Amino acid sequence: MPSGAPPDSPEDGSTEKVSTSGYWNAIYLEQDSPGWNIGQPAPSLMEWLKTDGVRHLASLRGQTPRVCVPGCGYGHDVRQFAAAGFEAVGVDFAPLAVQRANEQSKGAPGKFEFRQADIFELPRTERGRFDFFYEYTCFVAIEPRRRPEYVQLALELLKPGGMLIGCFYNHGREGGPPFDVTREQVLELYQPHFEIRKLEITPHSIERRQGHELWAEFVRP
Ligand SMILES: C[S@@+](CC[C@H](N)C(=O)[O-])C[C@H]1O[C@@H](n2cnc3c(N)ncnc32)[C@H](O)[C@@H]1O
Repeated sequence: MPSGAPPDSPEDGSTEKVSTSGYWNAIYLEQDSPGWNIGQPAPSLMEWLKTDGVRHLASLRGQTPRVCVPGCGYGHDVRQFAAAGFEAVGVDFAPLAVQRANEQSKGAPGKFEFRQADIFELPRTERGRFDFFYEYTCFVAIEPRRRPEYVQLALELLKPGGMLIGCFYNHGREGGPPFDVTREQVLELYQPHFEIRKLEITPHSIERRQGHELWAEFVRP
């Protein structure tokens, strides 16, 4: 990381390289804990699981909802979903992320798995098979010009009535990754396809992201 770069950002520069697993894997190789790794589940997710998540599980009367976690890194959020009673599938194309996610998950409770795959190439058999699509620092990791494709991916993976939940990172800096996104840009991309239930700054963030994470709850029609 160049000196002066924000802690979340491996470096500034061109955007195409972020579409390769080699780019991300090289950072994992260099650092055990890259700047984006908060070392714990996202506070906003923990809050949601304690409130709406519990209510959702209770309404299902014993069925287990499936959640897709794209760009899952070390899988803190995957394990948190699983511990809460969801079946969680973490996807990351960096081999070292998946290897370390598996190492850090030994003995963790619940149903979960990690897949080493490009999220844009998830097999057709996964289409329409998720109740939730969870967003946390994957949107801002992909090339900005691929954002419409990423919106389509969530639509395709979710069942009708399924939900996208999670955070969009509006840090306001130039360059990336993470590539900044504003509330207006999120709405422009998702509103034509989803029912927007919530999109607001969450009070539940780690300190350096306070005031910059937009918590989202979008329903796939
Ligand atoms: C900024 S990191 C965030 C990791 C994790 N969400 C966290 O908060 O610790 C972005 C992650 O997305 C992964 N990633 C980026 N593009 C991807 C793609 N097309 N398919 C699968 N994983 C991808 C990277 O390998 C990296 O682990």
